[in-house]
Amino acid sequence: MIKISSSILASDFARLGEQIKEADDAGADYIHVDVMDGHFVPNLTIGPVVVSWIRPVTKKPFDVHLMIESPEKYIDDFANAGADIITVQQEATVHLHRIVEQIKGFNKKAGVAINPATPIGTLEEILPFIDLVLVMTVNPGFGGQSFIQTMPQKIAAMRKMIDARKFDIELEVDGGINAETAPTVVAAGARVLVAGSAIFNKRESITQAMQRLRESAK
Ligand code: DX5
Ligand code: ZN
Repeated sequence: MIKISSSILASDFARLGEQIKEADDAGADYIHVDVMDGHFVPNLTIGPVVVSWIRPVTKKPFDVHLMIESPEKYIDDFANAGADIITVQQEATVHLHRIVEQIKGFNKKAGVAINPATPIGTLEEILPFIDLVLVMTVNPGFGGQSFIQTMPQKIAAMRKMIDARKFDIELEVDGGINAETAPTVVAAGARVLVAGSAIFNKRESITQAMQRLRESAK
């Protein structure tokens, strides 16, 4: 069963609550929240206060993707704001295991994301401790970028690494995922698809977009 994590980064922030509600009704499995600090990535988005404001809108798990430096400083705030899964970038810390333990200390699921140029081998030692791996299929920082065509091989290698050790870890992909690219990443072994502009766009309703993406990912 493929899960869809709808990224609110592409939504209409003037109607953020309504858009999340619509994505929930349309069958989103997770709500993906992109947190950017203008340092780790060249863009700024939202912080824990916004997460706490939108928390009452839906019961769906909040899949919080931290693209920030010093993530250890903000884990508590995001956990208390209502995050369910907290994913940190492998490149953002030299103390990955400590941060993963910090996240799990709040009884939250812990994820680790890797940028397109980061080898999957950097995750080898952390795999026994985490619940989710996020393979970035664009360089983080912005919505609406094009999928990097060499990523399916990397996803397949990651799938192999997880399965070889029989870990119960969700394999998520993020960036440029739409009805055209979804079949390739699913065939490579991805099971959670983050989608921003493929879900929230002016061409179709959120329900139509979600349906089209789900059909393509079967
Ligand atoms: C990119 C973010 C993504 C972004 C994806 O840095 O991590 O979650 O919202 O947007 P799309 O689906 O439009 O590529
Ligand atoms: Zn993301």
